[in-house]
Amino acid sequence: MNVLAISGSLRAASLNSALLRTAARIAPPGMRINLYAGVGALPLFNPDLESRVPAPVLALRGEVDRADALLVASPEYARGVTGGIKNALDWLVSHKGFVGKPVALLNAAARAHHAQDALRLTLRTMSATLIEEACVTIALLAANLDEEAMSQCDAVTGPLSEALGAMRAHHAQAPPRSPSFPVR
Ligand SMILES: Cc1cc2nc3c(=O)[nH]c(=O)nc-3n(C[C@H](O)[C@H](O)[C@H](O)COP(=O)(O)O)c2cc1C
Repeated sequence: MNVLAISGSLRAASLNSALLRTAARIAPPGMRINLYAGVGALPLFNPDLESRVPAPVLALRGEVDRADALLVASPEYARGVTGGIKNALDWLVSHKGFVGKPVALLNAAARAHHAQDALRLTLRTMSATLIEEACVTIALLAANLDEEAMSQCDAVTGPLSEALGAMRAHHAQAPPRSPSFPVR
């Protein structure tokens, strides 16, 4: 199972990115989690560019297509999502490969419920399949943990493992994806 992780934070010391990297470290057997590195390199969404889609957007769409599920973690900025994650999602609105894509949300701050609610609304509007049982809040704001410490902390790895297990179970129950080429 291939999972594409997308962080809504561009900070080098981002808790959300560290949480996603921790998920990659502790992924269960058969699950590979790759952290998408291009959020900051995407051009600002402009529908006029859909006729000649910029290379970084094609790369993002390709990574989404190759993923069985997405794992998204975004900070809350001014009671909304970050511009980075909204911009990445805007580029996926008209992308056929996004429809029905299973998505789980990680939230690194218990108080950041406005951003989580906004993400849920956006993702549902985009016809993603939210895996609710794999969405988890792990309160990290005051914990002062880096990725290494998160990987060693049961209060992080416990709920994270459960969330990843729920993603894997969802994938195991899902009907096989239809091939993108004709099968004779
Ligand atoms: C510009 C800005 C606005 C923020 N607005 C909120 C907010 O509305 N609600 C909140 O809970 N935290 C808010 N925060 C705090 C961030 O969500 C918090 O620092 C989080 O850890 C950042 O995520 P990161 O560590 O992955 O970069 C804000 C931070 C910044 C820089």
